[in-house]
Amino acid sequence: MENRIKELTKDVETLKATTIEEVEELRIKYLGRKGLLQQLFIDFKKLPPDEKKIYGKSLNIFKQKVNSVIEALKDGFKEKEEYEKYAKLDLSLESPQENVGSRHPISIVKNIIIEHFARIGFTVSEGPEIVDDWHNFTALNFPADHPAKDMQDTFFIRQNPDVLLRTHTSSIQIQEMESKALPIRTISIGRVYRNETISYKSHVQFHQVEGLYVDKGVSFADLKQTLFYYVKQFFGDDYEVRFRPSYFPFTEPSAEMDIRPINSQKWMEILGCGMVDPNVLENCKIDSSKYTGFAFGMGIERMAMLKFGIEDIRTLYENDVRFLEQFTSEV
Ligand code: PHE
Repeated sequence: MENRIKELTKDVETLKATTIEEVEELRIKYLGRKGLLQQLFIDFKKLPPDEKKIYGKSLNIFKQKVNSVIEALKDGFKEKEEYEKYAKLDLSLESPQENVGSRHPISIVKNIIIEHFARIGFTVSEGPEIVDDWHNFTALNFPADHPAKDMQDTFFIRQNPDVLLRTHTSSIQIQEMESKALPIRTISIGRVYRNETISYKSHVQFHQVEGLYVDKGVSFADLKQTLFYYVKQFFGDDYEVRFRPSYFPFTEPSAEMDIRPINSQKWMEILGCGMVDPNVLENCKIDSSKYTGFAFGMGIERMAMLKFGIEDIRTLYENDVRFLEQFTSEV
């Protein structure tokens, strides 16, 4: 038995094959059901127990050897096959057209806005879309009978106590002021909901960006400079800016900001802003005799429409690939 194993081991060590079919023949010869290894095991079974002890080990070593030699031969051919397959490819051919997705214009504009404000030290904050009355209205100084609280304007999920879909990202202002250490300099971004008639210029859902800066000595001049910077970054140099007095429950004084391309007569309203009302600061347990803040808010859809010349807000939600694939971005 020992001699047979030795001889066969020697044979196996010098096995060669020139084709994959030859490897298969060798595999059958050694490892097949009626192969040499099987034969050795049959003979082995007939040995008396004390000899089994001696030859069991060398038989197992031989078995491993045969297996690894056959596997190595197979691998050699696999590599060769792969190589030959690729060698036949013509790498100068054009590849088939791949359909690569593009970012949605709302995401593009959102990312651009984040980039501009991140550069002047604003963090990004988010919050839930379903909020209570406190975060959406009361803490923001809305009087109890304010028309915005009406079912006509707001989607209520439950009433008394009220739970609703946020109507503006100002709800995140409250969340931030209640939970973060001062100073706060953040832009809040997210989807908002209003019970409005859907038309080319308004929708029941859209996105807002809201800026908030609270610290000692923050002034309206800081607000104006921040917004001048933003308009310049977002629209370029060729725009004029004007502020109009306005009213929001949560800012005092309040303003709306318009822009106009130089050479144009037409002003376009782009955002609301103002100094955070002291009542709002106090509602968030911020000492309004020490701290002041400014806030501004704008619609991302409106920004996207102005930037890309989109005329109907509804096209932003139809997911028509022919529309969407026009937009490419770096961010
Ligand atoms: N929350 C206001 C809106 O939805 C926008 C705004 C934000 C105005 C912050 C002033 C300050 O219209």
